Amino acid sequence: MVTSPNTRIWPHSASVNNLDHLEIGALDVCELAKKFGTPLWLMDYASIFQAQEACRLGLLNYPGEKTVLYAGKAFLCLAMCKIVNQLKMGLDVVSLGELETAIEADVKPENIFLHGNNKSGKEIERALELRHCKIVIDNMSELDLVVRLAKRAQTKAQILLRIKPGIEPDTHDHIKTGQETSKFGIGLSEVQDYLSYIKSNGSELDFLGFHAHIGSQALELDVYRESVKVLGALSLATQKDFGLKTKLLDVGGGLGITYVEEDRPPGLYEWASTIQACVSETYQSQNLALPHLMIEPGRSIVGTAGVTIYEVGHVKRLANNSLCLAVDGGMADNPRPSTYNAKYTAAIANAMSRKSAEKVSIVGKYCESGDIIVKDAGIEAGTGDLIAVFGTGAYNYSMSSNYNRTGRPACLLLKEGQADIILERETITDLTRQDRVPAWLEAKQ
Ligand SMILES: Cc1ncc(COP(=O)(O)O)c(C=O)c1O
Repeated sequence: MVTSPNTRIWPHSASVNNLDHLEIGALDVCELAKKFGTPLWLMDYASIFQAQEACRLGLLNYPGEKTVLYAGKAFLCLAMCKIVNQLKMGLDVVSLGELETAIEADVKPENIFLHGNNKSGKEIERALELRHCKIVIDNMSELDLVVRLAKRAQTKAQILLRIKPGIEPDTHDHIKTGQETSKFGIGLSEVQDYLSYIKSNGSELDFLGFHAHIGSQALELDVYRESVKVLGALSLATQKDFGLKTKLLDVGGGLGITYVEEDRPPGLYEWASTIQACVSETYQSQNLALPHLMIEPGRSIVGTAGVTIYEVGHVKRLANNSLCLAVDGGMADNPRPSTYNAKYTAAIANAMSRKSAEKVSIVGKYCESGDIIVKDAGIEAGTGDLIAVFGTGAYNYSMSSNYNRTGRPACLLLKEGQADIILERETITDLTRQDRVPAWLEAKQ
């Protein structure tokens, strides 16, 4: 049995100790909160390891080359890049910041894929300078810019075309990307123009193959099968009509995780093995050479690894008799509930068995009525209790802000009894570091 952490709410190494406290990585979360303060982001190394292992094992039967790329937008910092290196994954980046973080952490350029629907000249130049870093082309003016910059740098750009296969997973509209109307990628009817352009700029462009990412928090496998079939047909037509081989096929990420009991995502192992079987069948049945297969999960690698710990401050009973627990964080460290109504599961980290039948909501401290982290949390907590919110490893830190001039929490990596800070808590000094006061405002009245 392969463990796929995305099918559970708690991190892989989580348990409850004899004090009724939550433990992660063999560490008492209440002790961590005491030592490092709250709010606190915790990342469970075992969950990350198990998630990539499930992907790796799922791809194992693929007869060609295969690689798991980690989509850095889900959670990226120097330590996460080091984990990517250690676990022999590749990395998808979407900005100069993510690219330079990866380089600083010694991720090899050949393992980096630069994405984005509006890459700047600077970003493209840097990718070209690094050689072997792959550029995933999103649109024609970008392709044209890549050719001009490659010519100037006297190099050849290694490119993939990002395709919109016209497939929509059943997920929130804001995180669908495979449909024809998406802002990302190239529609199927336009691909021929791109391939002609690539053929006529062969000295600047090395065509590697295709990429597609249909959306995020997908909870079914059929959409991936459909996407692979579309890409297979495209590879066949590309080879026949343009003589260009698909050497590399990146089918994206997007597999969902279990935020609440009702979520039933397929396991990572099942997802990866379905994809590899479908790619080998599709390509072999068309007598095409098997491409180097890549999958590109973000959320399902780090999502379940993350838990946020908050402390309850003031408690209020509202006019509808529901109980409102205000915690010391909220939408600045986790904007997902207010952005797309994301749901989470919470527990009382210092009293894991305590439950409530009452309507209880966990609200943040920020100045927005929509700053509600969990509605109907089903727990009965009071001032001073510690709340654990599960499944916060993906798109929390990476989408966080300094709203209301609040510093971001610290983040700890937990592994077998060891807790290391991988992101320092932001201080008031950090918050004013970029501020400048014009001289005329400094003048005494
Ligand atoms: C191109 C690309 N690849 C991979 C991902 C990762 O998606 P997820 O975190 O849902 O696996 C995304 C997410 O938006 C993406 O845009």
